[in-house]
Parts: sequence; structure tokens; C-alpha cells
Amino acid sequence: MAEPFDAVDIIRTKRDGGSVSEPALRWLIDAYTREYVQDAQMSAFTMAVLLNGMTRDEIRVMTDAMIASGERMSFAGLGKRTADKHSTGGVGDKITLPLAPLVASYGVAVPQLSGRGLGHTGGTLDKLESIPGWRAALSNEEMFAQMQGPVGAVICAAGSGLAPADKRLYALRDVTGTVEAIPLIASSIMSKKIAEGTESLVLDVKFGSGAFMKDYAKAKELAETMVALGADSGVNTTALLTDMSTPLGLTAGNANEVRESVEVLAGGGPADVVELTVALAREMLQMSGIDADPAEALKDGRAMDTWRAMIRAQDGDPDAALPTPKETHVVTAERDGVMTRLDAYDVGIAAWRLGAGRARAQDPVVHAAGIDLHAKPGDAVKKGEPLFTLNADDPARFDRALEALSGSYEIGESAPEATPIVRERIASA
Ligand code: URA
Repeated sequence: MAEPFDAVDIIRTKRDGGSVSEPALRWLIDAYTREYVQDAQMSAFTMAVLLNGMTRDEIRVMTDAMIASGERMSFAGLGKRTADKHSTGGVGDKITLPLAPLVASYGVAVPQLSGRGLGHTGGTLDKLESIPGWRAALSNEEMFAQMQGPVGAVICAAGSGLAPADKRLYALRDVTGTVEAIPLIASSIMSKKIAEGTESLVLDVKFGSGAFMKDYAKAKELAETMVALGADSGVNTTALLTDMSTPLGLTAGNANEVRESVEVLAGGGPADVVELTVALAREMLQMSGIDADPAEALKDGRAMDTWRAMIRAQDGDPDAALPTPKETHVVTAERDGVMTRLDAYDVGIAAWRLGAGRARAQDPVVHAAGIDLHAKPGDAVKKGEPLFTLNADDPARFDRALEALSGSYEIGESAPEATPIVRERIASA
């Protein structure tokens, strides 16, 4: 059968600043998924989008076409409200680990499909795989049963059936300098979240050096675009714009981030991790019709009970010892003073070079590798006291990690002005 459109015409339209009609855009995504439209053509199209943008209607159609490229999950028969969170990714961002069981402890089911790390940002599945026995791959039936039963929360890998168009497109954007286009990021993230079938969604959109969108105005535009897409698709969506200029918490890595998450679940942990976990949980509960202070379930052990059950349900042992590094290297303060700056991106790169992250999708991560921070901006430090502990299995990795860290922090005379983690909330109009 003859194809109804020609990719070259669509590319020319976008190249010249026009908008692509709904049938043409739907065809383009479908034809690319079935490999009729070639990578070379799609890369020209994505570059034209990066340069000329898309209308809100085009973004909606593109998202919808990517959802239609694969399966759409439904939790309608679950008998529970469902709520999920998506973070645009950052350094030390372990929030999903305490958040999913915390929200589930209020009876709201959490279908948290997560990914692995690439580059300087970590991946939730890599972190959880530091727990001996824990299994990321669940069938749809296992996922449904875990959400319906007393556990209520699932953190697992997304199956290959969800938005396959996005998988091809994302890999192409990665190698053609077209990742940073807001319409493409928004449609990529939201197609997967809408296909996943959650009723409500909170987006943690990061800005600052460790974020994907470093610029505040751009991060806000991304948040507004995604909230509008959620509303168009009937998913109750809000976004929090949160600061990623310094790492979250005191750990960046895998096993050390699990340890810190367990501290939060035990009612302790660093204040910034607790604050963001509670803020996101409150959004998820509110959208599910529950008016509660989620900090209570961290304090009284309910969230911890759900965490332990969730790890066990996926064959992990919540009591097993986590991997520890073979080698450590401590960086100490060169003078007395106050830490005035600690750059999230540099810390992320250093943790990655220690083995916590991967350079290629197929590489393994070293679960014990990463960085423990002993000071954050605003903390007083004394000459000779530890600032960072670097963890690795191979001491040859320390030099390049230290290189990344060398300009990452400053020690000055007085504490910088404290800024809130959550800068703004975006809800649909
Ligand atoms: N995460 C995604 O899933 N897609 C993007 O385009 C960027 C980040």
C-alpha cells in the first residue's frame, strides 16, 4: 500500500518554521517505528524541531502518537487510587526509594517504572540492584499483583512494550545533539508516563548545574509543557521545580544512596532529602484525595514497613549487608571556614568516574562506588577534617574523580544565603 505522506515534505515544513498536520505527524511517528522512515530523515526532523519548536497541539499529537506506538497499561481494575512521580534526574537523587513506599503506606498504589543511569545522573534501578537478590524485571501480572496486595508500591524496569517509538527516537537524539529540545523531552517523558496508566503524576523538574535543564526559565517551560500534556490526556499532573545546583543529601552513588534512603525511612536522614520526599508525597496524596502529613509515616515506621515488604516482594533481602568499597580516598579541608558552594554536576561526574555510573548503556555499574559528602554548602569546616570520601573498587579511578572534584567546591568566610529546595509549583490552569 502506498504511504500517505512523504517524510521529506514533513521535514521541509518544520525546517521552514511551519506546523505539521495531525495526520502527517501521526504517520511520521508510526512510519519511523516500523522503520519505513529512516534515521537520517528523523534526525533532520528532530533538529528542525530543536531549532524551530513545536506548537502545543503538535506536542500533544506527537505524545499521543508515541503512546499509540506500543501498549497502554491500565490499573482501572485495581480498586485503589494510583499516583506516580517522575524526576528529570539529578545527582544524589534517591527520592524514589523512600517516596514510593511512603505514599503506598497511605493506601495509594505507586506504579514506579524506573530507568538506569546514563552519564552523570544516577538511575533508580542501579541503586536498588545493590540490594542482594533484588529483581528489577517484573511481568505486568506481577506488577499488578504487587500493587493490588498489601505492599502497594512497585519500583521496576519499564517493559519494552511501552512507547517503543520513544526508545528509537531517544537513542537517535542522543547521538544527533537533539536531546535538549523541550517538545521532544516533554513528549518523551509524558508518553511513557501516560502509557504506564497512572491516574496522578507529580513531576520533579530540576534546574541548576546537576540538572538536565540547567536554566530556570527553560526548566519552567518544560514543567508547564508536561503539566499541559498530562491535563490533555486526563492524567492529574503537577510539577515542582526543584534545585539541583548542589547534590541531594550526603551520598552520590548506588549502595550508599540506598543506605541514606533507609535512614530517611527510619525517620532520620539529611534534611533536604526528607523535605523533598515529603513535598512530593504530599502532592501525590493530595491528587489521590488524601489530606495527610506524610512526615508522620516516616516517623512512625509505616513507610519503613512498606519498604521492607516491597524489597522482599521483589526477592531482595532488606536486612542483607550492602556492598562496601574495596578502596577509599578521603579529601580534607585545606582551611577553616564555611563551605559556600558544592557543584552537583562535578560531584556527579566524579561519582561516575569512580564507577557508580556507566558510559554506555550496556556497561555494568560498581554498586559500592560513589562519594560520601561530609559537608554541604552552609556547613562549617575545619582544616584537615574530611570533606568527601571517594569509594571505588579500583584505586586507579581516584585521579580522574579528584580532577572532577578539584574546582567543585569553595570554602569561604560566611554561609551563603539558604535557598529553598522547592522553588515553584506548577499545576494545570
Ligand atoms: N528523559 C526521557 O525519558 N526523555 C528525554 O527526552 C529526556 C529525559
